[in-house]
Amino acid sequence: MRHLLFLHLLGASVWVGGHLVLLFGVLPKALRQRDPQPVRNFEQIYERIGIPALLIQIVTGLWMASLWLPHAQWFGATPAAQLIQAKLVLLGLTAALGVHARLALIPKLDAQRLPQLGAHIVLITLTAVAFVWVGAGFRFGGLF
Ligand code: HEM
Repeated sequence: MRHLLFLHLLGASVWVGGHLVLLFGVLPKALRQRDPQPVRNFEQIYERIGIPALLIQIVTGLWMASLWLPHAQWFGATPAAQLIQAKLVLLGLTAALGVHARLALIPKLDAQRLPQLGAHIVLITLTAVAFVWVGAGFRFGGLF
């Protein structure tokens, strides 16, 4: 469990940290200059680290969830089950945002669509931070 949690926290650092850098460090400059290139450059470098980090989150997260509760109880009403459900909802949102960005936004990215990409980056960063909030809930026995 300790090694799983260690990997989970390492992956969380990369996933959340990367998106915060993108949102606060890269996006404002791109919007100011009306140029999507800085975002593209960042994505190109970050992708190689971010996607493996997300995969690690999924594997270690599901693994720890099955240590917290047997699968049959994941959809019950206990606090741990609700936290697992919240993680799965966030994972669904992350996947939907990712697919939408890859298929609909990034291929046709230009100056005009940059604000749309910006809104998207805000949403994915919020889901990343929400993952951490929900994660901390396991230690405190609930979402709030
Ligand atoms: C990018 C995605 C994710 C991030 C950033 C994230 C982040 C975190 C953080 C910060 C914790 C707190 C650990 C602690 O209390 O010390 C945590 C715990 C946990 N996460 Fe995630 N998580 C992510 C995805 C997932 C997924 C997909 C699942 C699958 C259901 C999951 C399941 C868990 C579980 C079961 C714990 C409790 C571990 C424990 O303390 O026993 N996580 N997560």
